[in-house]
Amino acid sequence: MQPVKVVVVGAGVVGLSTAVCIAESLSHCSVTVIGETFSPDTVSDGAAGILFASQFPGIPLERQRRWFKDSIDHLLAIAQSPICAETGVFLSSGCQVFKEVPVDTRPYWAEYVLGFRTLTDQEMKRFPHHKFGQAFTTVKCECTTYLPWLQKRFLKAGGEIQQGKVSDLHHLADTYDVIVNCSGLGALSLAGDTAVYPVRGQILKFHAPWVKNFIRDGDGLTYIYPGVNSLTLGGTRQAGNWSLEVSAADREGILERCFRLDPSLRSGQVVGEWVGLRPSRENPRLEVEQLRTAGGREVPVVHNYGHGGWGVTLAWGAALDALGLVRQALYRHPPRARL
Ligand SMILES: Cc1cc2nc3c(=O)[nH]c(=O)nc-3n(C[C@H](O)[C@H](O)[C@H](O)COP(=O)(O)OP(=O)(O)OC[C@H]3O[C@@H](n4cnc5c(N)ncnc54)[C@H](O)[C@@H]3O)c2cc1C
Ligand SMILES: *[C@@H]1O[C@H](CO)[C@@H](O)[C@H](O)[C@H]1NC(C)=O
Repeated sequence: MQPVKVVVVGAGVVGLSTAVCIAESLSHCSVTVIGETFSPDTVSDGAAGILFASQFPGIPLERQRRWFKDSIDHLLAIAQSPICAETGVFLSSGCQVFKEVPVDTRPYWAEYVLGFRTLTDQEMKRFPHHKFGQAFTTVKCECTTYLPWLQKRFLKAGGEIQQGKVSDLHHLADTYDVIVNCSGLGALSLAGDTAVYPVRGQILKFHAPWVKNFIRDGDGLTYIYPGVNSLTLGGTRQAGNWSLEVSAADREGILERCFRLDPSLRSGQVVGEWVGLRPSRENPRLEVEQLRTAGGREVPVVHNYGHGGWGVTLAWGAALDALGLVRQALYRHPPRARL
């Protein structure tokens, strides 16, 4: 019997996670990843990769919980195993502080990270500009190490990798039985999905090896994340801005805000800079659509894109969800019946 041919468009953290889940679970499928760029040249590679999330307005909370829980369970298991170093996935402890007490003092993901608690008045003295804080241990997933590891895992499961730009998903429908669309911001032109937009993020790589714990301002704009080789200091959130140029004004703003949060950083040094465009959407798109080719062939397209500032956090959970959609689509429309 011919294998069912699945193609995944996109080799960022969402595409590779989805490709691994399909290749390892559906043994009757042959899976190909097509990416215009690969690690270290995807948006995922620049992400700090810290796991927690905000809530999307239009997706049932139960589904978002499942994405988060499946992701962090997968990454916690790696972080607490001997492959931690080769995957770039490790535990990270720290706190999130708020200038005003938030309406919701316990986010939905509080039960999935480790040791979530409210900061004491004593601890808050360190943050004179803030009124409320939370401490917890989560995972940091550094994609410049994690993506090459996922790629190897995918090849080991029999997957194939191709470099190239897909200009129209219809072209793929002549060759493949299922198309999975993990093209991030590329979905704007590829899917003609105008609900996808960039949210520009600039960050600094910073040398201050005495800083061991992360600090994030609850407004999401200012953060200090210790990593394997340096700290990541951020950031900016500029919706609709396509500029990939490093901005000196943004750099100064980031430094000023981070120094306020942790004055010890004043004795550190900037060692790198990066700008990335978060593939944002009011809600990520994770659903099936039927594509009809000129020849009348119907091919399911599973969309998995638009995770915005939380793609690393949600990738594995979203990949398992997408795997379920691929399975369902194949069950409802077995490709042999279509030929
Ligand atoms: C400054 C910054 C900090 C961040 N920090 C975090 C964080 O701490 N935690 C977190 O969870 N997230 C974070 N993010 C968000 C995270 O980076 C994204 O959500 C995530 O990378 C999205 O992954 P992706 O696979 O969808 O997209 P990408 O990594 O952009 O991958 C898209 C892939 O699709 C390919 N592609 C696109 N169009 C086509 C086409 N037409 N043909 C072929 N291939 C195509 C691309 O080449 C690429 O391989 C951060 C983002 C930024 C910018
Ligand atoms: C985009 O961001 C850069 C850097 O912050 C800024 O200089 C520029 O004015 C912004 N462009 C738009 C259109 O907002």
